[in-house]
Amino acid sequence: MIDPSKISELSRVAKLMVAPGKGILAADESMKTVGKRFASIALENNEDNRRAFREMLLTVPGEDKYISGVILHDETIRQGMSSGKTFVEVLQAAGILPGIKVDLGLVDMGSEKLTTGLEGLDARLKEYVALGAKFCKWRSVITIGTGGAGEALPTEENIRQNAKDLAAYALVCQENGLVPMVEPEVLLDGAHTQAQAEQASERILTALFEELRAAGVALEGTILKTSMVLPGKDSGVKASPEQVAEATLRVFKKCVPAELAGEAFLSGGQGDVEATENLNAINQDKNLLWPLTFSYARALQDAATKTWKGMPENLQAAQNVFLHRAKMNSLASLGQYSSDMEQNVPQEAGATTSQD
Ligand code: 13P
Repeated sequence: MIDPSKISELSRVAKLMVAPGKGILAADESMKTVGKRFASIALENNEDNRRAFREMLLTVPGEDKYISGVILHDETIRQGMSSGKTFVEVLQAAGILPGIKVDLGLVDMGSEKLTTGLEGLDARLKEYVALGAKFCKWRSVITIGTGGAGEALPTEENIRQNAKDLAAYALVCQENGLVPMVEPEVLLDGAHTQAQAEQASERILTALFEELRAAGVALEGTILKTSMVLPGKDSGVKASPEQVAEATLRVFKKCVPAELAGEAFLSGGQGDVEATENLNAINQDKNLLWPLTFSYARALQDAATKTWKGMPENLQAAQNVFLHRAKMNSLASLGQYSSDMEQNVPQEAGATTSQD
């Protein structure tokens, strides 16, 4: 069990992470994944360029209005501005909570995946606390489909082991005074139906909350980070925002305890406007038990990255594009977004350059 004296601070930080109108920027891509993003703008994947990329995202003037926290990568939490300040200091000065991805990636288990990183976690977390982190992320991955031996995925074993690992991680985080984001990502890859995604999400969240409770994790100091309930990207079906909201909220109302501090969705390969529209549809429900906001990587970064292209002269335009996307998602988290707001990047963002 978590020392009760720690719970009020964990709960305070968790509430800040999902404060009204705010969401979390995921900027914790592995070096390999950053390489894919850079390939799309023909930029070399080296430490200097990754540092400049993160500086572009973390120094957007005014982003603190919409962004409560940023998930950093191990490399980034140790880096800083060209001028010398660390990124953690920059975020702290802007009132944005620094977070850190602490899992060590995926391993194959038959046709499915497990996440590594529990060994040595406590010592790594102590270092991250000293570096200024306030919250953590651990991502597990769930696949829907058929495995190599003809088995239906996800299997019960995989769901249970991922849930146990997420709970073990969350407990170590809370013991170290860090708010855990627990992320069971249901992959969009595949030809599954939205009903299959709903069924898988229900099984996963049921197992996850059983394991979190069994481990003694304080849910009021925990943030869930899941996928919206969507049909697979190869299903040939596109669900409307209303259909996404209905299916997602059906699962949440069945499986997510009221004590949970909140949920921050991943974008998971949705288009950036699509991810905003779906979040907005979800937040039309005014009787929700928890704040439901965003914790996007691609859907927040992609347009800004394409505008930036690694060129200092594009920095301001790219930051304007980022700020616009963050604002749209902020409005969506309040259920106040409409697509006509996409027409012009608002003047307060000072935009002059269109997205490409
Ligand atoms: P996407 O929003 O690009 O899915 O990434 C969010 C994330 O943090 C995945 O772990």
